[in-house]
Amino acid sequence: MSEKAYIKLNNTELELPILTGTENEKAIDITKLRDQSGYITLDAGFKNTGATKSAITFLDGERGILKYRGYNIEDLAERSTFLEVAYLLIYGDLPSKDRLEEFRTDIKSKMMVHEDMKMFFAGFPSKSHPMGQLSCLVGALSAFYPESLNPNMSEEEEYKTIINLIGKMPTIVSWIQKKSLGHPVVYPKKDWGYIDNFMNMIFGEVNCDKVFDDAVLDAMRVLLILHADHEQNCSTSTVRIVGSSNANLYASVSAGINALWGPLHGGANQAVIEMLEDIKNDGGDVNKYITKAKDKNDPFRLMGFGHRVYKNFDPRARIIKKACDDVLEKLGVNDPVLDIAKQLEQAALSDQYFIDRKLYPNVDFYSGIIYRALGFKSDMFTVLFALGRLPGWIAQWKEMRDNKEPIGRPRQLYIGETEREYVPLDKR
Ligand code: SDX
Repeated sequence: MSEKAYIKLNNTELELPILTGTENEKAIDITKLRDQSGYITLDAGFKNTGATKSAITFLDGERGILKYRGYNIEDLAERSTFLEVAYLLIYGDLPSKDRLEEFRTDIKSKMMVHEDMKMFFAGFPSKSHPMGQLSCLVGALSAFYPESLNPNMSEEEEYKTIINLIGKMPTIVSWIQKKSLGHPVVYPKKDWGYIDNFMNMIFGEVNCDKVFDDAVLDAMRVLLILHADHEQNCSTSTVRIVGSSNANLYASVSAGINALWGPLHGGANQAVIEMLEDIKNDGGDVNKYITKAKDKNDPFRLMGFGHRVYKNFDPRARIIKKACDDVLEKLGVNDPVLDIAKQLEQAALSDQYFIDRKLYPNVDFYSGIIYRALGFKSDMFTVLFALGRLPGWIAQWKEMRDNKEPIGRPRQLYIGETEREYVPLDKR
């Protein structure tokens, strides 16, 4: 017997189905609420509202659990590769050895970017933010691959579009980095892997390859895997709702990149480093900043702390914190903001304000410190988040299409003026 929920409205009692997910989460299905009652529900920020059913990523915010297609993030971060995780998220299962090799080869064959894409850079002011450039360049791919505009594309055409985007993203990111420095771009190498190719395109020079220590490549592998998906977060919900209008994959991901840019979301990794730098330059008094974060009259927030879903440790933050210690030690980097970050974390975790609100470090708190140790500029940190999140955005866009979900169009509660008579200009 399926569970029901009952709402008493206007002396009638409405019966609503209760749905149970595979991890025993519960949802009240209000699909028919307005038809049956004329009522809608209201939930600013969708804090209590599910937008879809998804089989891709499971989070348990209370217990600090994160799984991609049922696999624990800790196992994937330790044992998988970024392209294997990308395949898992997008197609639902771990690939066989041959299928993974084919997927890798297909993606590597798409890493070159059309030379005409370079002309976009001429239009960007030299200090323009990399996230604005990235969203523009990803959206522009639809101009070079018009077949991607067909909402009824075949599975084969969809696959080509997907591997095209995964292949071109690291090259586009590297072009943004090189153009910001006024340096010539470095091209991908056919016989190199995804991550070493990316790092060489970023840090290598023309005719002078940059070969990285395994510890650095492994740190990038872990960071990309940890960022790969995170269920219905702000940017992923953006990708899904834009895609629900039958917009193409490039346009949908470009929209997701813009949503991720915000400092409350993916932009937090850049904001954390800037905050830590401010604290260091202000004498390193972490308690002063804890006090500011608690002051309702002060707009300052502790960047990298708090999360809509995690009311326990973000499991990714634990893994990144350890990777941070390992990489900085291996590279012999002594970054003073790391000590400040650890002091800040300790101070916040023992402060009643943060304890009462279950505010813990999130994925962005330590990631910027590693990115900086690897040599990235802080305005590139959120671009790296986008590079990691790309498979998740693609997987969610594909799931929405496969499930033939309706165009997203939320309702509202109107609180504006009721009917008014138009007054001619000469009478106002
Ligand atoms: C990401 O959704 C995802 O999954 C996102 C993400 C992903 O992988 O896609 O995990 C990536 O975006 C991580 C979050 C990165 N953002 C930051 O680090 C920015 C700082 N954090 C916050 O702004 C905030 O915690 C949010 C935006 C992350 C969550 O905000 P919510 O869920 O809307 O919570 P809220 O703003 O309603 O806060 C609840 C209370 C408030 O106090 P009261 O009104 O109850 O007194 O907690 C306070 C807030 O003022 N609070 C903070 C705080 N975060 C929340 N106070 C000080 N510092 C903070 N960081």
